[in-house]
Amino acid sequence: MTRLVAAAGRTGSGARQARGLNPSSARVAVRKKTPTREVRVQIDSRYEFIDLVQRMAEDLCRVARLGRTTALNVGLAVREAAANAIKHGNRLQAGKRVLVIFQVEPQKLVVVVRDQGRGFDLQRLKNPLAPENVVQNHGRGIFFMKSFADDVNFSRLPSGGTEVRMEKRVGKRRRRRGLATGTPIRQGGEVR
Ligand SMILES: Nc1ncnc2c1ncn2[C@@H]1O[C@H](COP(=O)(O)OP(=O)(O)OP(=O)(O)O)[C@@H](O)[C@H]1O
Ligand SMILES: [Mg+2]
Repeated sequence: MTRLVAAAGRTGSGARQARGLNPSSARVAVRKKTPTREVRVQIDSRYEFIDLVQRMAEDLCRVARLGRTTALNVGLAVREAAANAIKHGNRLQAGKRVLVIFQVEPQKLVVVVRDQGRGFDLQRLKNPLAPENVVQNHGRGIFFMKSFADDVNFSRLPSGGTEVRMEKRVGKRRRRRGLATGTPIRQGGEVR
């Protein structure tokens, strides 16, 4: 995350210089970087590793100060993404891997899931809420991801595989208090 800090001087100096501000000097913005904490895990295309990835997501939600309910929901969203990567992306092929990247930022948790498949066309997804689909017992994974994350984006990797990027932001109340209390679940972002 990048925070803008008002500072003084012509050469982009730090906050200490800002305190001795000369009225005639220009105001400049200095980027103060807050480090992102990152965890990466690479798994074989086997269902037995899905629980592990789900639990990692839940645990890292707590590190990111997201509440218990949110952690469970994000864990489910990550589970669905990993299951899709293994099943539809890598087609359970031995030797193909799924990479999951968790980034804990000060105000959010970002989860990226990459596979080594051939990608797919989002425009052709069926609407799980359509009357003819509600009786089906599949076709809801992406719907869950969109429901449980604040933003969900799909992109095709240069290698042809799929990357799913999900973002869950720390709620405003929690940010103010700096406490781990319930965070409302919001409608997910657009899938593009
Ligand atoms: N990583 C992926 N690679 C290739 N195709 C994918 C990928 N993720 C999703 N898809 C395609 O999108 C469709 C919808 O995915 P979604 O997770 O919503 O439902 P599902 O996997 O078919 O069923 P469910 O998740 O409810 O068991 C899949 O059937 C598949 O065709
Ligand atoms: Mg699925």
